[in-house]
Amino acid sequence: MSIISISNLSKAYDDRTNALDEVNLEVNKGEIIALLGPNGAGKTTLISTICGLLTHDTGRIKVDGYDTITEYRKTRRLIGLVPQEIMLEPFETVYDTVRFTRGLFGYPENRKFLEDVLQQLSLWDKRNQMIKELSGGMKRRVMIAKALSHNPKILFLDEPTAGVDVELRRDMWNLVDLLKSNGVTILLTTHYIEEAEMMADRVALIDKGKVIFVENKDALMTRMSKKELTIKFKSPITKIPGSLSNYKLVISKDRLSLMYVYDTKASRTGITRLMRDIADTGFVLEDLETSQSSLEDIFVSLIRK
Ligand SMILES: Nc1ncnc2c1ncn2[C@@H]1O[C@H](COP(=O)(O)OP(=O)(O)O)[C@@H](O)[C@H]1O
Ligand SMILES: [Mg+2]
Repeated sequence: MSIISISNLSKAYDDRTNALDEVNLEVNKGEIIALLGPNGAGKTTLISTICGLLTHDTGRIKVDGYDTITEYRKTRRLIGLVPQEIMLEPFETVYDTVRFTRGLFGYPENRKFLEDVLQQLSLWDKRNQMIKELSGGMKRRVMIAKALSHNPKILFLDEPTAGVDVELRRDMWNLVDLLKSNGVTILLTTHYIEEAEMMADRVALIDKGKVIFVENKDALMTRMSKKELTIKFKSPITKIPGSLSNYKLVISKDRLSLMYVYDTKASRTGITRLMRDIADTGFVLEDLETSQSSLEDIFVSLIRK
């Protein structure tokens, strides 16, 4: 069942270019979906229109069945947003910052709930400190706490780990896991492919304001799976022999290996024949190694297409 339903959404900042171009996207309840795309692809614009921070030109967005324009109060309350930029009041305390945000959504103070949120983000000990006294990483934690202050059903994380230290990144992944197990739907944007690979159930690739595809992450990885076979030799190879010229082999920098890329789904990988032809050349094998292509390789090859 989808909790966010986007149809034919377009948005232009000026008359020349569409930042969003006829976007259609269904986000399922309880899933983690990663919007992947290069800088300027339209990820932030898409999130901003769903949140109601920007108006779209054409199309329609429904959140939990409510229209984001005509019923924006209802949709806004369901969503927590961690924006790309840190925006905080420097002379406010951590606790008041979070309490105030909760108030803006029309909820009364709930000290127990806010304590839980701050604990999860390792901010409880810092609750009485002023924002200006915090490090950048701590400020980012406060941005997340603010986004969770009204217990949203949907959380948007816009480039959550850009320029974030390892510890916060790990905490963030744990928090995302916890939220997901509580049934929260999470939409994150990133251009770190490893992040999508690690966390997302589905991946939507966006480029130039268009959704290129939306696919189950595991299915995507399997469908596109290419493996690389590295064949190491005892002595350096100066030139690929003519008898191996049909294999599109690449010589490694140290000249001690040949690399062969094959499709794991193909009916014939060509490996058996390749090994036999290599044996015929008289080259002496040292070792063999295979490695799986990452989502990053897949992404780059799709964007190029
Ligand atoms: N406030 C703005 N005014 C004019 N153009 C903008 C504005 N914000 C974004 N854009 C343009 O819209 C496109 C999409 O930007 P954005 O949604 O920020 O991409 P992403 O978040 O994927 O990096 C880009 O071409 C960007 O330059
Ligand atoms: Mg952005």
